[in-house]
Amino acid sequence: MSHKNQSLGRRDFVKSSVAATSSLLLVKPETAFGYAANSTVSIGLLGCGGRGGSVASDFVNNTDSQVTALADMFTDRLEATREHFDKLQAEKGRKKVSKLFKGPESYLEIVDSDVDMVLIASPPYFHPQHAKASIDAGKHTYLEKPVATDVRGCMEVAALAAKAEGKVNVHVGFQIRYGSHFAEQTRRIHEGALGDIACVNGFYFAGDLGRRSGEGMSAAELKLRNWVFDRALGGDIMVEQNIHIIDVYNWVLNAHPLRAEATAARKVRTDIGDVSDHWIVTYYYPNDVRASFMGTQFLPQWGSVEWRFFGPKGFSEAAYSGGLRIVGENAWVAGADAAAGDKAPEIDPLGDATPLKAQAFVDGIKNGKYDNQLKQGAESTLSAILGRQAAYEGRELSWGELLASDQHWQTDVDIANLG
Ligand SMILES: NC(=O)c1ccc[n+]([C@@H]2O[C@H](COP(=O)([O-])OP(=O)(O)OC[C@H]3O[C@@H](n4cnc5c(N)ncnc54)[C@H](O)[C@@H]3O)[C@@H](O)[C@H]2O)c1
Repeated sequence: MSHKNQSLGRRDFVKSSVAATSSLLLVKPETAFGYAANSTVSIGLLGCGGRGGSVASDFVNNTDSQVTALADMFTDRLEATREHFDKLQAEKGRKKVSKLFKGPESYLEIVDSDVDMVLIASPPYFHPQHAKASIDAGKHTYLEKPVATDVRGCMEVAALAAKAEGKVNVHVGFQIRYGSHFAEQTRRIHEGALGDIACVNGFYFAGDLGRRSGEGMSAAELKLRNWVFDRALGGDIMVEQNIHIIDVYNWVLNAHPLRAEATAARKVRTDIGDVSDHWIVTYYYPNDVRASFMGTQFLPQWGSVEWRFFGPKGFSEAAYSGGLRIVGENAWVAGADAAAGDKAPEIDPLGDATPLKAQAFVDGIKNGKYDNQLKQGAESTLSAILGRQAAYEGRELSWGELLASDQHWQTDVDIANLG
């Protein structure tokens, strides 16, 4: 089924009986941008799973915002998420969630509701459809990565950039770019700390993910709930998870790969889905820069995520677990106070990434200085897809060939009959 032509059957609208009991007075005096510094930004969360709950919590905890509407396919997700935000927002003297939208058309209902922004954290397959609806409805939009699972979806999302430009604030969920230590390291590399980058290496060794099951669930519901193990719904691990590292490659090199060769296999995790459990990819970037990547997603426990850029003046090291540094002529250690003799203090480089991104997003709304990250998000997604397709097709694949393929995937999950 095409994500553009999904037959959206049953409409199931559940309006919460919860009254807005907060004492907080919402004042939205008109400014040039329709916002004032004292206006609370209302968030509609589309896709009430792990990431949506986490990012929306970062918004509530770090900005003047509140979740007022939720949309999801399933009642259990809606109820658990409402409970979480009612509690969190009560602690802050903010409103309760007042609207719940359920089912395959819930994305249309939430974008038509009175929220200021829509946070899209549904499975990747639905992102082009959900992003289009949100931007068409004139909502500020935070779209989780990847922007799509196929080439056509990426092109559709890139095309939305023109519609959004200057009218709404749009982010894509690559939070690493906002982490203060990652940003500082990249700034130094861009200033020439390593000289002209020669080559790159990175890896994403991840733990296996939990299987979701429940009594009475149909095969289709099980597939949707376990979307991450399904190629069409999630894009495969290279595109769904490893994309973060490929986005860093694009960010630091300020380019997208020109071609890739790759291999991938299902060797350990064979009980579920059709995605590969490990990946080995070589990307070729402009200026004859080669970047290797390796990923796994079957370890019995959490692994390690790291990347390094190498140049004539030195190399940079970064990891999710900390220890960011530059070694060589322009030595630097993240978080170290050289004057105090600090060598390598413990830092959590991801700790401030999503909070700072949430702050930048809300600041952009309030100041009327809108970002437009759709093209960059589509480019990073296509870069990950390039590696995926090179592995699937067992040959070197160029950027041009990938774009010309107009690859389009359709899920066999008929969401019209779910929920
Ligand atoms: N930026 C990051 O670091 C990061 C981390 C994890 C996940 N993500 C991304 O966030 C997104 C969500 O991932 P997750 O881990 O929260 O998944 P999840 O399965 O926990 O949550 C997805 C939610 O979407 C709902 N849903 C499914 N189909 C829907 C539809 N058609 N309409 C409305 N709701 C629907 C599901 O019921 C579920 O509650 C994915 O794109 C994923 O790649 C990003």
